[in-house]
Amino acid sequence: MPNSLAAPQTIRRGDYRPPAWMVPETRLDFDLDPAATRVHATLTVTRNGADAGPLRLDGAGQAVQAVRVDGVAVDDWALEGETLIVPLAGDAHVVETEVTIAPDRNTQLMGLYASGGILCTQCEAEGFRRITYFPDRPDVLSRYSVRMTADRARYPVLLSNGDPVASGVQDDGRHWAEWNDPFPKPSYLFALVAGELAVNRGSFTTQSGRAVELGIWVRATDLPRTDHALHALKLSMAWDERVYGREYDLDVFNIVAVDDFNFGAMENKGLNIFNSRYILADPDTATDYDYDAIAAVVAHEYFHNWTGNRITCRDWFQLSLKEGFTVYRDQSFSADQGSAAVKRIEDVRGLRASQFPEDAGPLAHPVRPEAYQEINNFYTATIYNKGAELIRMMATILGPTDFRAATDLYFREFDGTAATCEDFVRCMERASGRDLSRFRLWYSQAGTPRLSASLLHSAGGGRATLRLAQHVPATPGQPIKAPMVLPLKLRLFGAETGRPLTEERLVLLDEADETLVFEAVTERPVLSINRGFSAPVVVESDRSAADLAFLSAQDDDPFARYEAMQQLMLDTLVAATISGEDRHQAVVDAVANTLDDPELDRAFVAEAVLLPSEAFVGDQLAEVDPEAIHQAREALRRALGGALHDRWAHLYAANAQGGYVYSPEAKGKRRLRNVALGYLAASGAPEVGALAWRQFEAADNMTDRQAALNTLANGDFAERPAALDAFYRRYAGNSLVIDKWFQTQALSTRDDAADAVVALARHPDFTLANPNRARALVGAFGVNQRAFNRADGAGYRFLADQLLQLDRLNPQTAAKLLPPLGRWRRFDAPRAALMRAELERIVAQPGLSKDLFEQASKSLA
Ligand code: ARG
Ligand code: ZN
Repeated sequence: MPNSLAAPQTIRRGDYRPPAWMVPETRLDFDLDPAATRVHATLTVTRNGADAGPLRLDGAGQAVQAVRVDGVAVDDWALEGETLIVPLAGDAHVVETEVTIAPDRNTQLMGLYASGGILCTQCEAEGFRRITYFPDRPDVLSRYSVRMTADRARYPVLLSNGDPVASGVQDDGRHWAEWNDPFPKPSYLFALVAGELAVNRGSFTTQSGRAVELGIWVRATDLPRTDHALHALKLSMAWDERVYGREYDLDVFNIVAVDDFNFGAMENKGLNIFNSRYILADPDTATDYDYDAIAAVVAHEYFHNWTGNRITCRDWFQLSLKEGFTVYRDQSFSADQGSAAVKRIEDVRGLRASQFPEDAGPLAHPVRPEAYQEINNFYTATIYNKGAELIRMMATILGPTDFRAATDLYFREFDGTAATCEDFVRCMERASGRDLSRFRLWYSQAGTPRLSASLLHSAGGGRATLRLAQHVPATPGQPIKAPMVLPLKLRLFGAETGRPLTEERLVLLDEADETLVFEAVTERPVLSINRGFSAPVVVESDRSAADLAFLSAQDDDPFARYEAMQQLMLDTLVAATISGEDRHQAVVDAVANTLDDPELDRAFVAEAVLLPSEAFVGDQLAEVDPEAIHQAREALRRALGGALHDRWAHLYAANAQGGYVYSPEAKGKRRLRNVALGYLAASGAPEVGALAWRQFEAADNMTDRQAALNTLANGDFAERPAALDAFYRRYAGNSLVIDKWFQTQALSTRDDAADAVVALARHPDFTLANPNRARALVGAFGVNQRAFNRADGAGYRFLADQLLQLDRLNPQTAAKLLPPLGRWRRFDAPRAALMRAELERIVAQPGLSKDLFEQASKSLA
């Protein structure tokens, strides 16, 4: 790890050069052992272009044992930092290296590591160089054949990419297996797994009749919890054929779940490796949210086979080429499994919770970044989720037919290559005949555009004028912005009749401002804009509370309806925070209206009546006052709970279900019932403690049990300690559920939340070595706006302490948890000073990783 005193090197997009050497063939021979694994690599290398330079192979952390060129041991190699330089006279050679690595000491979880006795790999972005010397960059595509030898008792299952070709047993207690991947791939898609694993098998026949053997590999005790993931995989395979015409291309598709994983999952060719939280589910241990997330991540990784693997990225600046598109694909898949409107609401809520703040803070960067120090810091909400919004906007602009033609063209043209975001946009243009030059600003300009919309109506003339103006705020390194292309779906409704006055229109705003005129508008119009969240922007409009309430009841676009309610709630909460003003009644009436509408999907109602988070309210204010926001939001919750008490009680009773079913309808009922429980608790009604306790005990599924636990844990109920204790004891030993126990307490709305979190970090089950556990406590605490920002700085100190400890084990995961400290500009001077002091303490730490250094130093700037 570099010392922070030696400033890490900055990699720039403009410095891209094609590789000097290609590696058409790679043979890897692993002699697996947790303490000392020997890796023998045989690379067939060919010179690429005129450059007469030596072969340069990336490495990290391992020691060179031997180098051979064309079968002959050589000693004229050199190390330049960790790069192995091998002088080569001709244009084609076979280069062999031998290294030894120690998977059981790999706490970074990058490269080859051990997770609960299983040996597994994670190579994206630059983990392969920790396994063997290689040109570890995504534009070097190689055909891999892999041989693994391991102790047969400890590692009975040996898996790698592609198809199994041979295996055998030795007489020394070891056995071996060979795998061959016919598709050339970049090193970041390499994978290997060795361990004692059980498999849930399935099969899928592709549209052209190829039979694919599917396998989900887990610990034997977890096998009963793999059916949902297997089912989701089959649905994904069929969906990609139907919607994008993409067929799977190998005879086997394997997924392995491991407990220690830095993020969600990884799309290695034919051998996906997953964080177990995105595979394992049964009704007793996983919530509806978990079930949905599992299906989405299984789909995401599967979809990468075409968007990522068959077509990969030329360099890491193009990361959104595969991630943005693949997120868009998994979002569309999930939308097709249930309510598309609810899915869109959830995705927008996620975007606002993580990407908007990122885009407004010190770590803001374009969807196609210009520079980085540590690429792992760029697996962000901007690359993934804003990137998905870019694809969605292009799909909206092109329309379904041209968009499909454009993706077909992209797959045809770039299959087997390492492509760029520009290649993708050009396909969109060529297939549709549209000019997207202005649209490209979405790739290069950071920051969330702000759109102001004001509608004027001259009652006499029947003319309405809509003035639209956009402004993109400055972000680090980008003080001045050009106007962007905003695809805005809009429609006008009549305030008196409630009827639509126009059709839905798609307006492409590409100037700083523009005025639209509507004729024959005979009654006062109400504006419905950015319907379906057609552009990822902040809308500032002068719509009154009455108009928002009207839209929340009348709009025919479910997202716009939800949005109107959110805006009404947000305006109310902002006013209450700033001036203590009580405008509760308008919200109470609008919520009552929504609850009373029998036509609405239960899941939609549940989403629509939830208040915006404290953090999102904070994002609307010039200066965040976490305590005032909390009080304002609690007061509104109390008002809603009290005023509508009988409705909540009725919904609670009416949405009870017999036995557990996982279906969109059953999920919707559970969600609405649990929202009702939350409002009953907010009302202060005396029966709630007993009600929640009964639900907690009687629940036949985790959605209901955890909702009851949350209710009890957030309040002062007599049942609170018993519930936390019973939950812990019931699920002791199931780490994914114990994560929920930590997370519930880290997200607590109670006054003592920060102290409780500090104490929980000393709980015997707490460990920073497992990323899920670290995220469950430290990560969740960072987004608990009120507790984290406690005025005395205890939250800031705790986070910095944890990050410094975690950085020594796992820099990548530490760096991911830093952003809450970087929000200091949004707070009052005393808090800002406390946050800065912690950031300075981090930056000054000797031996800091470049991951954490980059994030902390940028956050101070
Ligand atoms: N490609 C993986 C996925 O989105 C995630 C890899 C994350 N890698 C990283 N270094 N953070 O499916
Ligand atoms: Zn991905």
